[in-house]
Amino acid sequence: MPDNISQLREDYAGHSLHRKDLDPDPITQFQRWFTQAQELQVVEPNALSLATVDQDGQPWQRSVLLKAYDQKGFVFFTNFESRKAQQIAGNARVSLLFPWVSIHRQVSITGQAEKIPSTESLKYFVTRPFGSRIGAWASNQSSIIASRSLLVAKLDEMKRKFKSGDVPLPSFWGGYRIKPETIEFWQGGGNRVHDRFLYSKDTGTDWTIDRLSP
Ligand SMILES: Cc1cc2nc3c(=O)[nH]c(=O)nc-3n(C[C@H](O)[C@H](O)[C@H](O)COP(=O)(O)O)c2cc1C
Repeated sequence: MPDNISQLREDYAGHSLHRKDLDPDPITQFQRWFTQAQELQVVEPNALSLATVDQDGQPWQRSVLLKAYDQKGFVFFTNFESRKAQQIAGNARVSLLFPWVSIHRQVSITGQAEKIPSTESLKYFVTRPFGSRIGAWASNQSSIIASRSLLVAKLDEMKRKFKSGDVPLPSFWGGYRIKPETIEFWQGGGNRVHDRFLYSKDTGTDWTIDRLSP
């Protein structure tokens, strides 16, 4: 470990977030920040940490890529037999974190995950490059595998099988949509005076916005 790690400290001066800057709708606010993250060249701004909980209450996290979002929620794609999918089947409550560290921002979201219709998954699947579509078929995601060469062999087998280029959507692959219940926007400020705003879903369609202490 580098011995100066405890001294690594970035001052987030020059930025602040005020209630008047916020859109009443958190998805519109997210869209605004997502666009800025792209403009400011955050590396893979659609990469997020997805936290799920296993049957013992143990949280697990992994990165996934956001592929769509709108008023209905945030969508990512994965293997429906993976560890995360098994955990979601046992407990649909999940949490998402966009760690936009380079621009001193993060967005954290809680909500419930549900599978999207396979017609919707297919729409996205057909847009994936050949290698990614084949990859979905070749990997038994999260299962123990004895060697890398087995995976390569499986990929080769799938390449031969689907050499026409027509790769069907695997029944064990598709999207989840996370319907948000809370969305927090965090903006780093100077001298550790950070701004946090938490949107919480009211019973209707409205959202309550609270400022939280940093
Ligand atoms: C930047 C990045 C993006 C990733 N995107 C995805 C994704 O969109 N879907 C996915 O299933 N795995 C993705 N992965 C791999 C996951 O992090 C994880 O290893 C895999 O989904 C298995 O997780 P599980 O065993 O908890 O189910 C990504 C990894 C990284 C580092």
